[in-house]
Amino acid sequence: MRFLTSLVSLSLLASSAVAVIWDNEQIRPPTEKNTKYPVNLLTASDSKKEWDTYKPSTKEISWKGRWDDKFISWWTAPGFKFGFTGDKVAVTFGNYTNDGVLVAYRVGGLDWEFTNITTSATHLLVSSRPHAPSTSSPTTFELRVSNWGRGIQVAGIHLAKGSKLLPTKKHPKHIEFIGDSISSGQYASYGPMSSWPYLTAAGLGNVEYSITAYPGICVTDKDCWGNPRGQVFQWKQTQDGNWRQQELYGLKPQPWNFKKQQAADVVVINIGTNDANEHNNVTRSEFIAAYTKMITDIHAVWPRAQIVVMSLYFGFGQSGEGYVAGPGWPQEIPQIVKSFQRRGRGDYVHLFDTKGILQHNDIGPGTWHPTDTGHMKVASELRSYLKVKFGWEAEESGDMVHSGTYIYNDWCCY
Ligand SMILES: *[C@@H]1O[C@H](CO)[C@@H](O)[C@H](O)[C@H]1NC(C)=O
Ligand SMILES: *[C@@H]1O[C@H](CO)[C@@H](O)[C@H](O)[C@H]1NC(C)=O
Ligand SMILES: *[C@@H]1O[C@H](CO)[C@@H](O)[C@H](O)[C@H]1NC(C)=O
Repeated sequence: MRFLTSLVSLSLLASSAVAVIWDNEQIRPPTEKNTKYPVNLLTASDSKKEWDTYKPSTKEISWKGRWDDKFISWWTAPGFKFGFTGDKVAVTFGNYTNDGVLVAYRVGGLDWEFTNITTSATHLLVSSRPHAPSTSSPTTFELRVSNWGRGIQVAGIHLAKGSKLLPTKKHPKHIEFIGDSISSGQYASYGPMSSWPYLTAAGLGNVEYSITAYPGICVTDKDCWGNPRGQVFQWKQTQDGNWRQQELYGLKPQPWNFKKQQAADVVVINIGTNDANEHNNVTRSEFIAAYTKMITDIHAVWPRAQIVVMSLYFGFGQSGEGYVAGPGWPQEIPQIVKSFQRRGRGDYVHLFDTKGILQHNDIGPGTWHPTDTGHMKVASELRSYLKVKFGWEAEESGDMVHSGTYIYNDWCCY
């Protein structure tokens, strides 16, 4: 591919257009803090004098989640991070970027900002650092794709002339999540950036994370809701199987090179909700066989990883004068876990029972998916589980984690 080296001046075409986030059927009112959505396009000009440009293959840039060799993003919340000095960061997005894709980005541990990205455009994402002691002090820039169904292609990174591009410290532990819409944050305010896998890992503050989840997917290798293959196949691929993959690679995704990624210490799986849906015609024995094979495959890829299997208490129905959970595969999932333990070599497979974490009003009434509060509850319980089970202590970092969930009351005395 050709990198865009012709660049950029400081002239901004700032737009006042604002992306829409829905809250209880209402458009969330923009606040100064959480919804600025700047669309800052830099126009090409002879400003090589003002910028240093780096290719995406530059070794200081650390890639998170799955990216292909064209630096196109796949799956849920893929991103990149690097250190820098100076007060400006601009990113050129390639022609495989889906126009309007939402990304989250931030400097250091400050609040995430969200913006829609334009295909084949350079966005000025950082234009000042008002909280830095000086612009020569190093900080970090991180970006994550906040739509599960769309992606970006990174074509170049630009820093103010004379700034330094620096590597970032990699956390020693890595957690991988494998799932469907429940894990990709479908119907949550900021999608992947509101999902319980992101909240769990980012909340710990001291782990690397990747989320191999896509809405509608089964574990069984069947076409489920338009996903051509199940996770038992797709998890091993770079691409997620969907329309973007099909446009570029048809039904033949590129196998994921697991060496490109730090080995996972813990793998958390939340799968089976789509297999349990009658529409997809998955039988009990197909489900058990596919799930068992996927666990065996994960163990072959990462022999030292602990594998955490979640039960599926993520749905509720009214029953008389109350509500009851309608779990997916309530017998089969514990049975799969036990079958590993029975074979005497399954001390790496664990059940994380989600019974009772959510109540019916943690599920959106029209979406059948966790609300933002539901995602936060699952993340909170999973963090406690990781601590008790594996001794994973959170870091007291204070970095911003939860976007758009700041509900408070400053009025006393009523
Ligand atoms: C951003 O994308 C969303 C989803 O496609 C759209 O609703 C919104 O209008 C876009 N906002 C801008 C500023 O382009
Ligand atoms: C993107 O650009 C490359 C290189 O110029 C070209 O081969 C490819 O067809 C373009 N793809 C799209 C989707 O525009
Ligand atoms: C499920 O089976 C029914 C009856 O055999 C069939 O009509 C339907 O197309 C199947 N659905 C899928 C998604 O394979």
